[in-house]
Amino acid sequence: MAAFRLRIKHASQVVLICKNGERVLAGKSMKSVATLEATSSDGLSVVADDAGLVHAVGTDTAIDTMLPNCNYTQEIDASGMCVLPGLVDAHTHPVWAGDRVHEFAMKLAGATYMDIHSKGGGIGYTVKCTCQASEEELYSSLRSRLDSMLKNGTTLVEAKSGYGLDKENEVKMLRVIERARREHAIGISSTFCGAHSIPSGSTMEQATKDVIDVQIPHISKLMLSGDLTVDSIDVFCEKGVFDLDCTRQILVAGKAINLPANFHGDELHPMNAAELSAEMGARAISHLEEVSDNGIAAIATAGVVAVLLPTTAYVLRLKRPPARKMIDEGVAVALGSDFNPNAFCMSMPMVMNLACVNLHLTMPEALVAATLNAAAALGKSDKFGSIENGKVADLIIINAPKWEHLIYQFGCHDQLIKYIIKSGCIVHHNVTV
Ligand code: NIG
Ligand code: FE
Repeated sequence: MAAFRLRIKHASQVVLICKNGERVLAGKSMKSVATLEATSSDGLSVVADDAGLVHAVGTDTAIDTMLPNCNYTQEIDASGMCVLPGLVDAHTHPVWAGDRVHEFAMKLAGATYMDIHSKGGGIGYTVKCTCQASEEELYSSLRSRLDSMLKNGTTLVEAKSGYGLDKENEVKMLRVIERARREHAIGISSTFCGAHSIPSGSTMEQATKDVIDVQIPHISKLMLSGDLTVDSIDVFCEKGVFDLDCTRQILVAGKAINLPANFHGDELHPMNAAELSAEMGARAISHLEEVSDNGIAAIATAGVVAVLLPTTAYVLRLKRPPARKMIDEGVAVALGSDFNPNAFCMSMPMVMNLACVNLHLTMPEALVAATLNAAAALGKSDKFGSIENGKVADLIIINAPKWEHLIYQFGCHDQLIKYIIKSGCIVHHNVTV
């Protein structure tokens, strides 16, 4: 008798996202998501195999016919419910010690992000606290943050270092991320962000040299020995942090050890960072509140994924990134929570709501941006981001008949999300829903 890991049956709706193996949906192709709808006489099923991959999706009757007399390790009756792919969070800074609640008060009173940063607060404050923290402390707070992200529907998350700023502390952060990759149910894509800020007492030139000559070679050694998995490299390209030339040098050095560029740019000042991302063939660029028209055209042509972070513009009261213009001009837009001590949000459903209300995305665009396109920003859309045969069975089941409830509802998603499934295994079952 054939055996499978999981069968979900009787669902009202299955949101596939796409059905022709698309690896990214750019511009106007973001405007709709592929779905399957139940009829009054037939529900919908999803089957995951023992390798945790999607084996079949279709009506209950079609699956019964295709797979007669099968044995399923777990079965879920999803009557009246909707199945979606797990959400992908394309940008987070989840490893840190020391909150910044005191700075939130300062910002509400009118201080800007850079006012605080240039006085040693902001990232500088978090670097001090994180360098003092033990690996065990950092892991324990990371684990509970990942638990929250997972319960909010995120099954794959990008996680950056960047609060160490020297070889020892950056590697400490990457080791903490590596441990979570092994021990936590959530999927992780890790990013080396040693160029997140200029260490206190250093200059941009010295910091650039340290990242290129000391940190990158050390990380490369640890990657080659199998001690660390690192998926991409990031730089905070910003006035008063790393300028365009230093950013380029660091990203080139990263590319030389096979780390694709996935960096912060054009956030607080126009830097021509989007143009640089296109020139370098970066995989993704984040923020883009201050992107130029030329930058938009360049990333559309080069196929660089634009990772937009609605929480940052919201919490810092920034100009919003021109998301509509980007989509209209053919850019592939993705979303991230930007979870960090400045933007304390671990919920991709809330991020999608903010993207719709504040950045003027439609609900289908927001969902594409938080699934397939976010996976593309991480170079993982061949395996994640949609429900298609052969892809990893990362799924969420909400207790609502239509997927739009996930975005419509602003918060309290613990009253909506019933199951989280990672690689075909139930990793969270909310019995109260
Ligand atoms: O993406 N802008 C740079 N990095 C983060 C903020 C990090 C922090 O303030 O600690 C961001 O918003
Ligand atoms: Fe960030």
